[in-house]
Amino acid sequence: MKRALVAATIAALTACLASSVSAKTLTVGFSQIGSESGWRAAETTVTKQQAEKRGITLKFADAQQKQENQIKAIRGFIAQGVDAILVAPVVATGWDAVLKEAKEEKIPVILLDREIDAPKDLYLTAVTSDTVYEGKVAGEWLAKDVGSKDCKVVELQGTTGSSPAINRKKGFEQGIAGHTNIKIVRSQTGDFTRTKGKEVMESFIKAEGGGKDICAVYAHNDDMAVGAIQAIKEAGLKPGTDIKVVSVDSIPDIFQAMAKGEANATVELTPNMAGPAFDALEAYLKDKKEPPKWIQTESKLYTQADDPQKVYEAKKGLGY
Ligand code: AHR
Repeated sequence: MKRALVAATIAALTACLASSVSAKTLTVGFSQIGSESGWRAAETTVTKQQAEKRGITLKFADAQQKQENQIKAIRGFIAQGVDAILVAPVVATGWDAVLKEAKEEKIPVILLDREIDAPKDLYLTAVTSDTVYEGKVAGEWLAKDVGSKDCKVVELQGTTGSSPAINRKKGFEQGIAGHTNIKIVRSQTGDFTRTKGKEVMESFIKAEGGGKDICAVYAHNDDMAVGAIQAIKEAGLKPGTDIKVVSVDSIPDIFQAMAKGEANATVELTPNMAGPAFDALEAYLKDKKEPPKWIQTESKLYTQADDPQKVYEAKKGLGY
């Protein structure tokens, strides 16, 4: 009995040691787009935390918004012989060659938060939200909010050629389809940044006779919405009232704006893409268990009715 107990304890300790050693020795390269938005900063923070929690060595490369830097970083990770690569792809096209190189070296690649136009066998899985749905939810919210009133919308698009910019535009158009009183009168990229969002909103206001006829701004992310809010205020109008503000991400700053009545609605995108990505990767490396090609994260609509101050307090220390 005693001998059996000792043997069982040794076996359990060995298994435990083996799994912690394999987790500790896992090295993953992460090619991040940059730090264009509060959401992106939070994703970087959460990815580093998730890696640390699991004993994964994370090699981080900031691409400063450039695809060529991402491709260089991925080639660097391949040369270093990492166990896996995470990529948040800045644009949707142009990845086939480098992903083939990773595949030849048997290095699994996981896409984070954006999709690409490439054969699916070139990556293990993609952890993303349904970005068409996010746009649709924003559009449907606006349609419900304005009712039968005529509404001229200006749209701040994300980075040209990126999957969320393409899909959030498409989704919003679906959301307002059939509501002939709602019209997108201007649409331009603000590159997902606060500065560009403000600049482009200023030009929209100028082009639309001082902004009095604009009923709403739809921004593909909250940072551009925050920039737009500033531009609206500087034009002597009230954001959230004279011009409604609806966007995507749910960063703390937008909840602060909502609490002041200066923004109306936001669709939440979780910054924790790395948790599901590492779960899938660990299962794959352990048992060759193929994950689904798309691991979908949740999208939730928040409006001024959702106690924005409370949400702000809950989110403010989370790395945004
Ligand atoms: O791909 C996700 C998008 O990229 C976020 O909505 C935006 O803030 C970011 O830069």
